[in-house]
Amino acid sequence: MGGIKVTDIAFGRMRAPDLDRAEQFLADFGLVRSDRTRTALYMRGTDPAHHLYVAELGEPAFVGCGFYARSEEDLHKLARADGACAVESIDEPGGGKRVRLRDPLGYEIEVVHGIERVAPLPLRRQLLNYGSERHRRAGELMRLSKGPAHVRRIGHMVLMSTDLPKTVQWYRSMLGFLCSDDVYAEREDNLVGSFNRCDRGEEYVDHHVFFCIQGKKIGLNHLSFEVEDIDDVMLGHEHLKQKGYRHAWGIGRHRLGSQVYDYWYDPWGRGHEHWTDTDLLNAKAPPNLARAMIDTASQWGEQAPQEFREHATP
Ligand SMILES: [Fe+2]
Repeated sequence: MGGIKVTDIAFGRMRAPDLDRAEQFLADFGLVRSDRTRTALYMRGTDPAHHLYVAELGEPAFVGCGFYARSEEDLHKLARADGACAVESIDEPGGGKRVRLRDPLGYEIEVVHGIERVAPLPLRRQLLNYGSERHRRAGELMRLSKGPAHVRRIGHMVLMSTDLPKTVQWYRSMLGFLCSDDVYAEREDNLVGSFNRCDRGEEYVDHHVFFCIQGKKIGLNHLSFEVEDIDDVMLGHEHLKQKGYRHAWGIGRHRLGSQVYDYWYDPWGRGHEHWTDTDLLNAKAPPNLARAMIDTASQWGEQAPQEFREHATP
């Protein structure tokens, strides 16, 4: 196959029939416009990535995701893999180079390098007090301003597949993903979910950058974005609720991955997640096989509604 080890997820690429409406939702969700052309919208977070989200004008669809290659050399290596396109310059704001691949579900995976970095956006940062550390914010008042959450970065993508083992195998061999938790139901060889992280050796990375769900259809379950802290999750929730968007699931704390989460649908029914405080693992952590526990998939908070567990948009 001839894959490489990508270092992180870079962006999600969607299509939407109304870019004004897409931008309004994404701004309410906590992203900021980085650029906009006649046919595409590029949204960023507070971190220095030029964009985390591309919305192209067109019928509603999930096109695929971008992932970062460690080096341009890795792009050239990947270009020799089965089914890969040649290294090409990205003709979009932010520039850079990429290799395009088609995953087994038909989505376009772009492995990118050299996309422009931008100055980080200012972010409120206050310490929280704990019962055992009561003076961390001594003398400083907490006064939060209402409004959208502050999305820092993209965290992961979640796809539904009708053939999970094949899909996951492709991602592990092409992009170097490691198994964090494979999830089974009834029998150990009946996988219903698979959490995968990037391999950056000793360096600690998010528990998952790709979660695959076994289901009856193929599609996107959600794209997920890291916000600054729990207050951001809560303020973002209030803001999206007040704006009348449809809530999908949350707020709670996951079991596998441990993030505090909150899920919303965009105007075309695509899942978007805010999270904070994930488990971090490095390449030394062995793969885990976990039993599916629908009733305890959250450590606190509401369990996943059936609608969301079965949710997948093309
Ligand atoms: Fe998620």
